[in-house]
Amino acid sequence: TAETESFPIPANVFAETVTSVTHYTDRLFAFRMTRPQSFRFRSGEFVMIGLPNAEKPVYRAYSIASPAWDEEIEFFSIKVPGGPLTEHLQKIQEGDTVLMRKKPTGTLVHDALIPGKRLFLFSTGTGIAPFASVIRDPETYEKFDQVILTQTCREDSELEYGRQLVDHMKTDELMQEVVGEKELLFHATATQKGEVTGDRVTKLIENGKLFIDLAIAPLDPANDRAMICGSMAMLKDTEKLLQERGFEEGANNAPGTYVVERAFVD
Ligand code: A2P
Repeated sequence: TAETESFPIPANVFAETVTSVTHYTDRLFAFRMTRPQSFRFRSGEFVMIGLPNAEKPVYRAYSIASPAWDEEIEFFSIKVPGGPLTEHLQKIQEGDTVLMRKKPTGTLVHDALIPGKRLFLFSTGTGIAPFASVIRDPETYEKFDQVILTQTCREDSELEYGRQLVDHMKTDELMQEVVGEKELLFHATATQKGEVTGDRVTKLIENGKLFIDLAIAPLDPANDRAMICGSMAMLKDTEKLLQERGFEEGANNAPGTYVVERAFVD
């Protein structure tokens, strides 16, 4: 559009081309864009992205939803009415330019966890984005025997991105190879609207229904590792449950049994 061509691209960012856009609901969409040759990241990390529609572009943190081996970069985003970035970002189309700062970072990475047998990935809403990256990374299945992805959303339709992703993991030949002999489980609940509504994952951990539904053993810090990504409230509540069960937070320079990252929404 004319709007995007009238400002020069800043020197410190990559300017990439959108290759596809998928709208899931009136609040959620995903898009893919070209990946710069020199850009390296670890599955689970985030970057700052913006649009070339202003002299000083607005940047927001976005988890990279694609795995480290992918030729393209994928993001899963909320649409915030009047949001400084998402108001415009939700209108992007194939061929448009998206700016990306050059340095990825984050704690939802294997380096921040000590070795274990099962990996739990707890998410709400767009908090599933970094896990879309992690569950497509062969390293995840080299390090763990079983990967358990959970997502809690308000509405059933908001679970579609995760459902399609997990379906793809089970049906795509390349993805079947990535998972190999290991196992990927998915537990999704819509708390407010939809045919089959259910409880928040925190409640399901507390009352044990999560483990009964999936027919797996309850959380055990000796063998289990966890990554959490959601709203501040969700992080706080989930961390408390993990800490009560003996889990300890890890970081890149001091690996532990769980790690957290806020889902970036505004
Ligand atoms: P609920 O509908 O019971 O509030 P939000 O958009 O507010 O971040 O919520 C996204 C999803 O996360 C909703 O399903 C919501 O459930 C759930 N949720 C909100 N707060 C928490 C929390 N503290 N712990 C677990 N899940 C939460």
